[in-house]
Amino acid sequence: MTTEKKLTDSCTSDKAAKAFLVLALSYLLFGLILGVIGGFQYILPPFLKDRLSFQQTRPLHVYLVIAWIFTGAQAVIYYYIPRIANRPLYWQQGIWLHFMLQLAVSLFIITSFFLGYFGGREYLEFPPVLGLFIFLSWIPFAINFFATLKPNYKTAPVYIWSWSTGILFFFITLSESYLWLFDFFRTNVVRDTTIQWKALGSMVGSWNMLVYGTGIYLMEKTSGNANPARSPVAYFFYFLGLTNLMFNWGHHTYIVPAAPWVKTVAYVISMTELLILAHLIIQWRKMMTDAQKYYHRLPYRLLSFADFWIILNLILAITISVPAWNYYTHGTHITVAHAMGATIGINTLLLFASVFYFIQQVRPNAAERRKKMAGIGILITNIALLVFWLSLLGSGFVKISGKLNNEAFYLIMKKSEPWFKVFTYSGVFVLLGISLLIFASLKALLRKKDL
Ligand code: HEM
Repeated sequence: MTTEKKLTDSCTSDKAAKAFLVLALSYLLFGLILGVIGGFQYILPPFLKDRLSFQQTRPLHVYLVIAWIFTGAQAVIYYYIPRIANRPLYWQQGIWLHFMLQLAVSLFIITSFFLGYFGGREYLEFPPVLGLFIFLSWIPFAINFFATLKPNYKTAPVYIWSWSTGILFFFITLSESYLWLFDFFRTNVVRDTTIQWKALGSMVGSWNMLVYGTGIYLMEKTSGNANPARSPVAYFFYFLGLTNLMFNWGHHTYIVPAAPWVKTVAYVISMTELLILAHLIIQWRKMMTDAQKYYHRLPYRLLSFADFWIILNLILAITISVPAWNYYTHGTHITVAHAMGATIGINTLLLFASVFYFIQQVRPNAAERRKKMAGIGILITNIALLVFWLSLLGSGFVKISGKLNNEAFYLIMKKSEPWFKVFTYSGVFVLLGISLLIFASLKALLRKKDL
């Protein structure tokens, strides 16, 4: 097959990768709007109560933002793999089959939430049968990934290890998260809670593997240096990430009487992978020449901000993982700060770095014209996110102090009100900042010509 033919074929899959990216950005926009509606329901409980209660907005928001992370990662991986393998995607129709299945499943899930049909467990609250279709929709992705790359794991760079693990563990953790459907698990509360948190905690590990892999690949492409992704420290990072994926869920189960060694292991290794990722980004920043920093301005700024969020979240995660402190922080907004700090500050920023790199490659002129808008978006997002994150910590501390002083629930809520207001209003700015990034990307992606 000639190089020209190869290029034409990989361009065909690029169209599908672009469609995935548009879908992922739509999930994000919609998810953000629902998050802000949920925020207003904190400070004005009757807001939209009859049409869309908090019991609906919360799962809709969480489903959509997680769908953004998985789909965004899949979109850029679909774009990267033909280039890494230097051959067209193995199954061109498979990527469209994946797209159609994914679109249909998400439409069913969103509709069932709006109509008030639940039936699933936390984070996967939609009717359980839809979980089966999510599983099926990932099969063409897995086939295309492994059959196009045909990885040789003896020499593969670390991002291929990360992506492979992320895909494999997605199938494992999704299956585990439905074990509660069997009586053997559902009828024993300790077994049930432990398995459920293990599955969900490890599922987070699976999307981290996909997203961190895209970050490391991007660092290789922007610096032109292939060594860091093959260095001992990078593989150490991978194995630490894998251990984390398998054990760090332990810090979600401090409340159940599971074996004590699980809790100790969970604490010791908890979040150490973030330290190594922060280190890799710092090394990459040192390696970049001024010209490279200028040319890849948006990915550079996004990765640098992600580094800042990695360090902040690392400090918070280590603090809340100390079992004695976790007793107090569990169930407060400090946990929500940890979840949103990581999914916005780390996952979303790392993904946008790849999104802008992707656009720069396929639409260089359009990317250049949207740089200013995106630059303002990055600034607003990061400033607003800091206030947002601190307000969640603030309301968490109010709850802890209320519990320690045996205060009545209504008094704790009253004292939390100012923090909830800051949370909601700063959330509006997070929506504004990220919307600028979304619109800058969509405007460049949806143009027929590179303008
Ligand atoms: C990229 C953007 C965002 C991501 C990835 C994200 C992610 C998440 C996640 C993972 C949770 C579940 C937290 C947990 O269970 O502990 C959550 C909950 C929530 N988020 Fe977001 N979020 C985003 C933006 C926003 C914005 C802008 C707002 C606006 C105020 C918001 C409001 C909420 C609310 C109200 C909850 C429910 C908290 C509760 O359970 O009481 N989110 N979000």
